[in-house]
Amino acid sequence: MCGIVGYIGPADSVPILVDGLTRLEYRGYDSAGVAVLQDSRLEIRRHTGRLSNLEASMQQAPLTGSVGIGHTRWATHGAPSEKNAHPHTDSTGRIAVVHNGIIENYQALRNELAARGHRFLSETDTEVIPHLIEDELAAGAASMLEAIRRALARTRGAYALGIVSLDEPETLYAARLGSPLIAGVGDGELYIASDVPAILNRTRQVVYLGDGQIATLRREGLELVDMAGKPVAAEVQTVELEAEAAERAGFETFMLKEIHEQPRVLRTLLNLHLGNGQQDTPEILGFDADYWRSLRRIMAISCGTAYHAAMYGRLLLEGLTGLAVETDLGSEFRYSNRKIDPATLVLAVSQSGETADTLASVRMAHERGCRLLSICNVAGSSLVRESDHVLYTHAGPEIGVASTKAYTAQLMALALLALAVGRVRGDIAPELADEMISDLRAVPDAIHYVLNRAEIIREIAEKHHDGPSSLYLGRRYNFPTALEGALKNKEISYQHAEAYAAGEMKHGPIALINEYLPVICICTRTRDEVYEKTISNVREVEARGGRIIAIATDGDTEVADIAEDTIYVPQTRDEFSPMVNVVALQLLAYYAAQARGTDIDKPRNLAKSVTVE
Ligand code: AGP
Repeated sequence: MCGIVGYIGPADSVPILVDGLTRLEYRGYDSAGVAVLQDSRLEIRRHTGRLSNLEASMQQAPLTGSVGIGHTRWATHGAPSEKNAHPHTDSTGRIAVVHNGIIENYQALRNELAARGHRFLSETDTEVIPHLIEDELAAGAASMLEAIRRALARTRGAYALGIVSLDEPETLYAARLGSPLIAGVGDGELYIASDVPAILNRTRQVVYLGDGQIATLRREGLELVDMAGKPVAAEVQTVELEAEAAERAGFETFMLKEIHEQPRVLRTLLNLHLGNGQQDTPEILGFDADYWRSLRRIMAISCGTAYHAAMYGRLLLEGLTGLAVETDLGSEFRYSNRKIDPATLVLAVSQSGETADTLASVRMAHERGCRLLSICNVAGSSLVRESDHVLYTHAGPEIGVASTKAYTAQLMALALLALAVGRVRGDIAPELADEMISDLRAVPDAIHYVLNRAEIIREIAEKHHDGPSSLYLGRRYNFPTALEGALKNKEISYQHAEAYAAGEMKHGPIALINEYLPVICICTRTRDEVYEKTISNVREVEARGGRIIAIATDGDTEVADIAEDTIYVPQTRDEFSPMVNVVALQLLAYYAAQARGTDIDKPRNLAKSVTVE
């Protein structure tokens, strides 16, 4: 996520902005910039890379001013570059804006504004905002506030904004919809920030802007209005958290924070691609319809958690389209002689976009003339730069080494892709597509339901955490879920865990069953016979004295009668149940790790991105 800091007061804003942005570095970024109002000029400095690069550029060309905004960018639209870094300005260079969030209808707005003579210098969605404000002022808006209000009413998406204008040099504006933003109240000085750590060293008196609110900050105080322009009371609260705890939004670890971010992350993807009831957005399909209709085969390549996502994607793509889909580990594919040719589409799944084995494999495929579609979380990464098209997961920086929100975002991206490809190829009936989209929209709330059961899951984890090993079982869409649950447990609790397709039990693993081995069975209800088959597997385990922890559908008492412990999840369409079921397994592993006292955010021996072989 991007970082925003703003200041208005008696001091020079530049050191305050840089200090605040430094305190937001934990959010991850790829470029930074500031805009400062100084002696009737609007001065802007921007630079790629670390904040130190920006500071160096400001030493070469110093700027000072008592009103300013600053930004650290986590690229979503447009690669990391100086021209894509914030702040962005309008045509006149008199209005500057910093933004965190996504303007979903930015392309349409750009086209509309360009037709009226506006010229855009960046590839970002953000740049439309200052131009919209300029457009509303030209259309006769009575004030800057009115122009901001009318400009934002034309957008669809999420934003946290800092805005300054040469026409109002003693004012700082802020607005919020969907992306967090606070105002800080000091003694004759005020601040804005994406998150409290940025300004905790200057004030603990903050106002949390609500969705749809616009703040006007002047040295004498701040005023809030809603999108209708109606005044809103500003409630000043005292922040009790210390800075480090505030970075984790009060959660004890980044991993737990990211587990709880999943409903919001998936809603962002759903709204981005299906927010307006629209379907088949260009960002999903990337290639033209004829290409998708003529395609016969996809080879999906990835590693680790991303490989589990690719396994899920194969089942979905083959279920919803006529495509043949294969998966392979990056570390295997690169040394194999898999038969691929230019008629094969290579699908790379990678959170970081820097995994050496995945990169080496896709480079091989590219050399053989294959097109490369990537599902990735990091704009500007090596994989993104080498891809023919990218479907971004928009999960924001994932700080915890063990992947959680990036994984479910990959699953959501694959579900959106499979639906869009199935529709554009005519492989799925429109009414089925509509039904599935409706079921897909229910996933974020279903995840909330599981998150609300964290204490039940914690108790189960604490009861079973101290054995030497555990076994995870799942079928079809939830076999990758079992693999991912076992990996989470291994990664953060250091307890050995193994996952099997449930139907494989009788082919050997059943010899492992005893009263010490927790067997985590994913047996949520399905529309077909898979559920009954899985229940049979669970009974096989129970008959041999196995200790069953079941992931079951709400109300399923049959499973509860067999299992020692049951974690209930809401009824979710089979195809989309992995996005919900895996959250139960993430929490199970999390609390097992907590009970075992491991370093959950930075587990031993692990790196967030395996950039070496
Ligand atoms: C996930 O919990 C692991 N940290 C690891 O398996 C990771 O998924 C794998 O290294 C692939 O990384 P990528 O998605 O960045 O390519």
